[in-house]
Amino acid sequence: MRTLSNILVTGGAGFIGSNFIHYLLSQPDFKGRVINADKLTYAGNPENLTDIEERFGGTRYFFEQADICKFDTIKSLFRKYSIDTVVHFAAESHVDRSIFGPKDFIETNIVGTFNLLECARNLWNDRKDGLFHHVSTDEVFGSLGDTGSFSEATPYQPTSPYSASKAASDHLVRAYHHTYGVPVTISNCSNNFGPRQFPEKMIPLMILNLLEEEPLPVYGDGKNVRDWLYVDDHSAALWLIIRKGREGETYNIGGENEWRNIDLVHLLCDKMAEATGREKDFYRKLITFVKDRPGHDRRYAIDCTKIKKELGWKQSLGFSENLDTTIRWYRNNLSWVDKIRSGEYKTWIQRNYLNR
Ligand code: NAD
Ligand code: TYD
Repeated sequence: MRTLSNILVTGGAGFIGSNFIHYLLSQPDFKGRVINADKLTYAGNPENLTDIEERFGGTRYFFEQADICKFDTIKSLFRKYSIDTVVHFAAESHVDRSIFGPKDFIETNIVGTFNLLECARNLWNDRKDGLFHHVSTDEVFGSLGDTGSFSEATPYQPTSPYSASKAASDHLVRAYHHTYGVPVTISNCSNNFGPRQFPEKMIPLMILNLLEEEPLPVYGDGKNVRDWLYVDDHSAALWLIIRKGREGETYNIGGENEWRNIDLVHLLCDKMAEATGREKDFYRKLITFVKDRPGHDRRYAIDCTKIKKELGWKQSLGFSENLDTTIRWYRNNLSWVDKIRSGEYKTWIQRNYLNR
């Protein structure tokens, strides 16, 4: 098992990264330090880690506002903190945004990953205990028909600018292992949900529109299928991989929990009705079918036998409980939502990070 001392988490102020940092610093057998390097784009919010900053700031948790596209900045962080492990989340992550503006996706997801790999290659030359873990998506495999699932051996067939940029970064990570011997692992996971997800993604967007009694925009015929993975289950899988995963290997992580979008929106409507005491129909009437996303992948499904067998990972509670926790989190954190929407948190960032 690897000993992890100084973990560089990229994109740790985003949705999955911030949940992962919470998870990591609550593990009794992790004694090391976490260095969170995040550019703080629209999706990065240091308030996601206020409690972590209070408990561990300056001792075991360090925030650095840094752009992974800037090689020298990243290299100096590797040196400053003697980084031995990288868990690389930082990315432009939303498919719709990639359709309207792919440039940032190419820069951050491809060039940014390249910079990090170059740092690992240059600075880990003589150390054998490093690990570069790359967090990727099942979307690199393309779209499935009605049956079947993606395994680690499924050929890549990305279809959106987002998934193409993630596929390119996966290939670079493998190439750096194969060519230069950089110690790497990769994971490809399905759609995550849980607290702190930026409300442009489907589940938090629907929850907030339900709370505000706004239309629920369902793309196309609503029959596209996604596999939903609870974010803490993802963190648990990553924690296993970075300690016990085999170098050079890829691990698929999935919820084994497929839903047609329309069925999931119905479930969310019914849960909201239960919570507020209103009629189910009141919420279901908010559903509005809208123009489909261009190139919308039809179905994703993950075969995660490998990580289950090899590392003993499994998903936790049922989907319904995890969805309830998520809905409760958004209901209890409306000020978080307001700040994100109003842009107030950007001012907060300037006050706390840019001008210090
Ligand atoms: P997110 O959009 O919530 O967060 C991304 C974070 O990266 C933000 O904090 C942002 O500020 C930071 N960032 C962006 N560009 C940067 C740059 N140039 N330099 C430094 N930091 C930068 O994303 P997420 O949903 O938490 O996804 C995290 C990772 O997981 C991504 O690599 C994504 O491709 C992958 N993934 C996500 C999902 C999902 O369902 N959300 C599913 C599969 C894989
Ligand atoms: P999303 O959360 O954007 O994740 P991804 O595109 O990476 O799978 O979308 C999940 C599914 O929900 C996808 O099939 C698109 C659909 N969707 C809607 O129907 N309406 C919406 O408003 C959004 C954001 C997504």
